[in-house]
Amino acid sequence: MKKIIVVLLTVLMLAGCVAKVEETPKLVMATECTFQPYEYYDGDEIVGIDVEIAEAIAEKLGMELEIVDIAFDSIIPGVMGEKYDIGMAGMTVTDERKEQVNFSDSYATGVQVVIVTEDSPITSVDDLFEEGNNYVVGTQAGTTGFLYATWDIEDAGLGTVDSYQKTTDAASALLNGKIDCILLDNEPAKAIVKNNTGLKILETEYAVEDYAIAINKANTELTEKINAALAELTADGTIETIINKYIGD
Ligand code: ARG
Repeated sequence: MKKIIVVLLTVLMLAGCVAKVEETPKLVMATECTFQPYEYYDGDEIVGIDVEIAEAIAEKLGMELEIVDIAFDSIIPGVMGEKYDIGMAGMTVTDERKEQVNFSDSYATGVQVVIVTEDSPITSVDDLFEEGNNYVVGTQAGTTGFLYATWDIEDAGLGTVDSYQKTTDAASALLNGKIDCILLDNEPAKAIVKNNTGLKILETEYAVEDYAIAINKANTELTEKINAALAELTADGTIETIINKYIGD
């Protein structure tokens, strides 16, 4: 009887080990998928620069990537609350965010630009700062575009800011005349202009920024591992190949 129990226990323990080994740990990435070419839907598949870079990182870490599409302004709170392992969403490194999360090394650059309708009276970024113009600036909620427009325009009494959860909703608002322009990152702005008729991007740039991956502050080990993976993927040209695949300049 004793022998049988020992054998049984051994079998159970072995089975437990095997089950554990087989389960690949998950790397859960929170993002917001109206941000072509970084993350967007191709049919019902989420694709883009961030998705492919995250997949390459997960592979290096021996992890399985799982993507969660949520509101942009929920990403950092979710990473802080350990609901998600990483936030990767063309996310700009800022001092305020650095107090909330760790950032990986930067893997891409973004430029804030302004989208207007083709017949818009707005011809340069400076028009937004002119007293009396009172333009309504559309932005995506929680983005740096929202912060700049709030600080530089609304708080200065020069106009107002309207926020949208999705960049595509901001585009509809602009086409419907609800807002006068959209302040947004350049590549998604180009995609919006390409995907709609009657819109254009002003030539003057608003701000230049660095994109990086947000990680929980306590998880320094993951930050280090991701930075090591990024360094390897940069050195072997993977990152460049992925970016060039989506950005054809
Ligand atoms: N770069 C801007 C920021 O970090 C906008 C990012 C929006 N990303 C997105 N996937 N919707 O605030």
